[in-house]
Amino acid sequence: MINRNIPFVDLHSQYLSIKPEIDAAIADVIGNSLFVRGPYVEKFEHAFAELMQSKYCVSCGNGTDSLYISMIALGLKSGDEVIAPAHSWISTTETITQAGGTVVFCDTDKQTFTIDPDLIEAKITNKTVGIIPVHLFGQPADMDPIMAIARKHNLWVLEDCAQAHLATYKGRQVGTFGNAASFSFYPGKNLGAMGDAGAITTNDRALAERMAKFARHGGLTKGSHEIEGINSRLDGMQAAILSVKLKYLADWTRSRQERAKRYTEQLAAIRDVETPFVADGRASVWHLYVIRHSDRDGLARYLAEKGIPTVINYPVALPFLPAYKRFGHRPEEFPNAHYNQSRILSLPIYPELLNDDLDYIVAQIAQFS
Ligand SMILES: Cc1ncc(COP(=O)(O)O)c(C=O)c1O
Repeated sequence: MINRNIPFVDLHSQYLSIKPEIDAAIADVIGNSLFVRGPYVEKFEHAFAELMQSKYCVSCGNGTDSLYISMIALGLKSGDEVIAPAHSWISTTETITQAGGTVVFCDTDKQTFTIDPDLIEAKITNKTVGIIPVHLFGQPADMDPIMAIARKHNLWVLEDCAQAHLATYKGRQVGTFGNAASFSFYPGKNLGAMGDAGAITTNDRALAERMAKFARHGGLTKGSHEIEGINSRLDGMQAAILSVKLKYLADWTRSRQERAKRYTEQLAAIRDVETPFVADGRASVWHLYVIRHSDRDGLARYLAEKGIPTVINYPVALPFLPAYKRFGHRPEEFPNAHYNQSRILSLPIYPELLNDDLDYIVAQIAQFS
């Protein structure tokens, strides 16, 4: 078999598939010189809120900002504790610290990689103010028990939907459960801009206003600085590009789901490979297709030699990162996140991935195992 050169994410193919529309949208923004905020941004905010089944959308510079802005608007103060999963991208927790809070890690479920609701209550103290469930890799967190705990203890819930646009839990879209939901449009995300971009959705009008105010130098109109804020804006070009791509998101999601199904059917027969587990009632949008293997590093090296790139999302679980050395966390406190960090491997998955390439990837994994 001749080696191939399969990309991990194929942004260029996606662009080519909608090139005339994207090129026209960019030309339109340049022609009108509407580069920051303005009608392109408003149009996208409305369309995104509608697709995400939320009343309000506040766009911003990136997904990390969307978490930070949300927590400031939710009223996070110095000393407040926020519970977050041990397995995520660092944006989920670095923003808790940036907003003045204290990160409290909770282990994830071994199979779904999402926060384990059975472990949350033991983490609650009189300083706890909120929970950030992360719909990791595209699979929703177990939202019913999380929301029940939040209601019982009067905590806010901020859903980190950076990897899960359009994922559903018991038929209901992620982002509609908590007080607010944060989204990333980093280029490789399921809905990706051509640069950095992010947004927050919520049904709470007052909260949306506080978010918008903080993100725009503390005032909703130019010159009215009621508070000190930050500058975190979606620009017109990214908004116009995202408006084009938004129309295709449902189709692209279905394509990801078909590819994940094909992977799982074929990989199931291969010894030593654990395919991703999706819990009952949850529909993943497969931002990442993450297998587990006892010789993960050997498999990754072997696949690289065969022209198949893989990624580890993420090589070190959050509590064990140098950034959190101050907590002195030990592996036995987060056994599942610790177990998974040495076994997980993300295979290429995107709507444009050819079945033939996917079958080649599976064949190479079978060769190794
Ligand atoms: C789970 C999660 N949260 C937050 C973010 C932050 O998004 P951004 O890269 O747009 O700042 C990401 C993106 O990588 C993510 O995967």
